[in-house]
Amino acid sequence: MLSSKMQEALNSQINAEYYSSYLYLAMAAYCERVDLKGFSHWFRIQSQEEMIHVMKFFDYVLDRGGEVTLTAIEAPPTTWPSALGVFEAALAHERHITSRIGKLVELANAEGDHPTHALLQWFVNEQVEEEASVDTIVKQLKMAGDVPVALLMIDRELGQRTLTPATDAS
Ligand code: FEO
Repeated sequence: MLSSKMQEALNSQINAEYYSSYLYLAMAAYCERVDLKGFSHWFRIQSQEEMIHVMKFFDYVLDRGGEVTLTAIEAPPTTWPSALGVFEAALAHERHITSRIGKLVELANAEGDHPTHALLQWFVNEQVEEEASVDTIVKQLKMAGDVPVALLMIDRELGQRTLTPATDAS
């Protein structure tokens, strides 16, 4: 059974993952508005991946006999300064999520909650991948600078992203 502290922390993480999905959907809308359809597609997929994260925590809390409490989701920003700016914001957000996952791991350790610790290992690995993929795009955008053809090449590449089904942690 989940401790009430852990249940609260996991519910808070459900909200944070929902916000991630919402944020990336807002980024998708921004990219489409500035005619970067490939970038927009990439963020739409990212938004869907975040919903998979939501459901992993959601199902886990229920599987442990806990109570899911859905709370209001903060409104994300609606605009960013540039394609580079939007990906820099995405990287900062993923680092923030990584730090949240780290705190959950510490709580699971402190409580000797092995099942939650096992679930969180999937997220620890996922965050390494998420940060690495966004960081690569930030670096490519810095290389592209103000060269439109380079930006369009990245846009074309990002437009080919497909949703990767999450492997089960349980
Ligand atoms: Fe669910 Fe991108 O962290």
